[in-house]
Amino acid sequence: MSIFASNSMGSAAFPSYRTAGGRVFNFNAGPSILPEEVIKQIQGDIWNFDGTGFGILEHSHRAKPFDKLLHDTFALVREVGQVPAEFEILFMTGGSSSQNYIVPLNLLRPGDTADYIDTDFWSTRSIEDAKQAGHSVHVAWTGKPHEFRRLPAADEVKFSAKPAYVHITSNNTIYGTQQKTEPAVPAGVPVVCDACSDIFSRPIDWAKYGLIYASAQKNLGTTGATIVFIRKELAERCGPTVPRMLQYRTMIKEESRPNTPPHFAMYTVKLMAQWIKANGGLEGMRKHNEAKAKHIYSALDDCAGFYKPHAAKADRSLMNICFRLPTEALEETFLAEAAKSGLDGMRGHRATGGIRASIYNAFPEVGCQALGEFMRAFAKKFG
Ligand SMILES: Cc1ncc(COP(=O)(O)O)c(C=O)c1O
Repeated sequence: MSIFASNSMGSAAFPSYRTAGGRVFNFNAGPSILPEEVIKQIQGDIWNFDGTGFGILEHSHRAKPFDKLLHDTFALVREVGQVPAEFEILFMTGGSSSQNYIVPLNLLRPGDTADYIDTDFWSTRSIEDAKQAGHSVHVAWTGKPHEFRRLPAADEVKFSAKPAYVHITSNNTIYGTQQKTEPAVPAGVPVVCDACSDIFSRPIDWAKYGLIYASAQKNLGTTGATIVFIRKELAERCGPTVPRMLQYRTMIKEESRPNTPPHFAMYTVKLMAQWIKANGGLEGMRKHNEAKAKHIYSALDDCAGFYKPHAAKADRSLMNICFRLPTEALEETFLAEAAKSGLDGMRGHRATGGIRASIYNAFPEVGCQALGEFMRAFAKKFG
């Protein structure tokens, strides 16, 4: 019996699912779904922001209303993320991708080596970009021989003699694996984390990190702003010849607006931080995300002969669920039928193919129930 009993199947093969507001469920990997109440707030604020008589898109980044918005955003992000005082919060541009060269540029001194744990397409990119900029990089482990299906055991990671930092990727968006805990690193070595696809989706043990970066467009707003959390002393490592706009120090000194910042994206971060706070904070997100993923993983496991999950069970992501079907033709049918049913945006990344359901913070549990139900019905019909 469908949990969506009111959804008529009509002449279609599968039921029709919709969000409470009548939109389709958007499983895109980023930019991705926003909560309906956040979208409605944005609609109003684009017309008239905070009673100023004109919209957020039209506001100066130096004027008082934006000043207040910026300070409120910093305060709210700090409160919701329980970010300790020794961390600065910055908004930068260029996406998580630009941190691939900004991090080593700021953190490596002459003669330094950085260690990288290679768990996905994106960490491979981080390594390539750091190398291309001429930095000394040591790959402490790579999941490439394992098709990035799993994460390393502690004794498989071989660090260099004295790394200046260890770079990890907490959630591997393309292959659907996620660190359950932070990896053990040599004492005193800061961990730099690409948290692009799981920032604020669960509590963060800040003591384990030196720097965390994430573009906003998956869990924390929309595209344009990259949020960086950095320990103050790490920002001081940067040499004087690094271009001013690429120094974390400049962003700290200028409150993330040394030039015209991505102010609309920053504003959406504030709305998402507000929404997370109203929904139980990071602990609330953890519970919400665990409950959501269960609906889909249980359908995968119950139809194990038909669906082939990419990630090893122990390393499964709560954010991106990646799987294949017996043939590419069936995958095309799956995507087409799902889209017709109101479950959209599940085509896997071009590097892997297959299906990927991305279910970041804003994705509602009812949409995961719908996908679980659809997957069971699809396997029954075609399996
Ligand atoms: C883990 C991870 N790192 C980096 C990136 C690149 O982010 P951006 O497109 O904001 O540069 C992505 C994009 O999806 C990602 O998932």
